Amino acid sequence: MFRIKLSVVDEATSTSDLVREARVSGAVSGTAFQARRQTQGRGRHGRNWQSPPGNLYMSFLLTPKRAKSEWAPLSLVLSLALAEALETHIESGRVQLKWPNDVLVDDKKIAGILLEVEGDAVIIGMGVNILVAPDVADGWASTRLADMSQVEADDFRDDLVACLEKTITTWQQQGFAPFHAPWQKRAAFLNRPIRFEDVGAQNLSGIFRGITEDGMMRLEESNGKTRTLTAGEVVGLRGAHPGGDTHALSD
Ligand code: BTN
Repeated sequence: MFRIKLSVVDEATSTSDLVREARVSGAVSGTAFQARRQTQGRGRHGRNWQSPPGNLYMSFLLTPKRAKSEWAPLSLVLSLALAEALETHIESGRVQLKWPNDVLVDDKKIAGILLEVEGDAVIIGMGVNILVAPDVADGWASTRLADMSQVEADDFRDDLVACLEKTITTWQQQGFAPFHAPWQKRAAFLNRPIRFEDVGAQNLSGIFRGITEDGMMRLEESNGKTRTLTAGEVVGLRGAHPGGDTHALSD
């Protein structure tokens, strides 16, 4: 069973920095830190992650028991654990997953996950908007849990830790297969037109046709061919205004 061993601090540059330092000093898989606030919170693609007090900032070390070739869908597995924790507080139909690892509620971003590979380990950082939501995160409107539930950051953290322990244990034992259907059930923009930016910052657009058995994105282009994509992110909805106005679809 995968277990998280958590230490809580008032302030950190980034909780992922604390995990990195702990790893260098020999910390074991499951070592975790939560900070009340971060002074240099990091998002994906080198972006800043606003980290005022009142939200959840947590990172932990995972030394996967699976081969590195199977790590790619880990971000989907983690986003599912986050979705399950949120669904203990809000109606499950409101929670959706944006490939590869953003968690949306009512079409707005509520949480982000940052994965950093360090040798045979992964430093996993999670930020959840509990009390404070930045106006916009990554071009998407954002939202906060406090608008939907009375739960506080530390109680939500306990739910999240329990979901992570269960989910990661299953992944270590069985790989991605048990998560394919639950992820796809919550997929945002399934069978809808999206704009997508791949790792080479190339803009693609097409219809999002869900994920493959190993968690890759399936994008059907206008020529009718379906590409499978391993890295990149959904940057908008085709026909919608930048900023993620998801109700403005024109096709
Ligand atoms: C994203 O860009 O969506 C990922 C955001 C990840 C933020 C979390 S908060 C805890 C951990 N520490 C960081 O500096 N980043 C991650």
